[in-house]
Amino acid sequence: MQSSKNNVRIIDLRSDTLTQPTPEMRRAIAEAELGDDVYGEDPTVNRLEEVSARLTGKEAGLLVVSGSMGNLVSALAWAGRGDEIIVGADAHVITNEMGSVAALGGVEMRAVPNDRRGMLSPEAVRNAIRPKAGYFPRTALLWIENTHNRGNGAALSVDEMWRVTDIAHGEGIPVHIDGARLFNAAVALGVPASDLSSVADSVTFCLSKGLACPVGSMVCGSREFIGRARRARKMLGGGMRQAGIIAAAGLVALDTMIDRLAEDHDNAKRLAVGLSRMPGIAVDPAHIETNIVYVTVGGKPAPELAAAMRARGVLANSMGNWIRFVTHYGINAEDVDEALDVIGDATRATVSAG
Ligand SMILES: Cc1ncc(COP(=O)(O)O)c(C=O)c1O
Repeated sequence: MQSSKNNVRIIDLRSDTLTQPTPEMRRAIAEAELGDDVYGEDPTVNRLEEVSARLTGKEAGLLVVSGSMGNLVSALAWAGRGDEIIVGADAHVITNEMGSVAALGGVEMRAVPNDRRGMLSPEAVRNAIRPKAGYFPRTALLWIENTHNRGNGAALSVDEMWRVTDIAHGEGIPVHIDGARLFNAAVALGVPASDLSSVADSVTFCLSKGLACPVGSMVCGSREFIGRARRARKMLGGGMRQAGIIAAAGLVALDTMIDRLAEDHDNAKRLAVGLSRMPGIAVDPAHIETNIVYVTVGGKPAPELAAAMRARGVLANSMGNWIRFVTHYGINAEDVDEALDVIGDATRATVSAG
């Protein structure tokens, strides 16, 4: 259950970024041992960085403000001005991060098509790698997103990723995984997160989404890479001082909030099954692998239906002909059923089938 406004109960399915910290996180925040992290002296940050590195099977970790900053410092650590990064056209770094890698790094994003689940084809990756001749841009990095946000939260397996990462590594090109929801992928696939990150040289994951922290993301990789990422973070003004306040919640999240992501995945599936029965809404529940449900809306534009839902207390993001729902900590199966009743009502009021 969520909050209520003007006596309308609000069920907020816009994003898992809306999650509130758990009581244990709030206690850990209050009691955190602190130091100046720019001097490397915050013991709680240091512990979080070590735990994150261990969970992703990397040498070192770095706490950053957000997933976007994690992606940006990773790109800046791998690529310089005039270099290229091969990336799927629907990747979050392309669609939702304000062109930051190009704007601040002078790096070209070489967007190749991705399939329905956000995967890149080996052929597209092979063709996008530049020859090493003098006048070509240097292909500096291959970028994978897992889970893939616009790919209905698809969880990409090690084997799937390996088919393209192996090509990059064969050419001496490093690989970055934007794993904002890496632990959703790991839980959905039933493998340790370190298996997924083993195909990449660097990985980011968010503490602030399904893991319910108030703020923070992690970048993990080799010690040498993290050294460069740390410099990039400082350059962006992202050196934080007593950041143990943030890290304390992160440690609780990594200890207590990973396994429960399965509940969010079950709720997303439940939501998709209900939505698939509504006239004018198209979604295949078999395509829902984690906590993200995109539907396409026939008839009236999706934002009109989303507005009718909002007026009745169910919030979701929409654009063009799609609406996106995200399940998360704080939303249970009863909330999903209630949301379905509300959406059914809003659909009857707005969508003309066909
Ligand atoms: C796949 C992916 N990467 C990166 C981000 C950026 O994270 P943040 O909102 O913390 O900047 C998001 C946010 O939703 C995301 O879905």
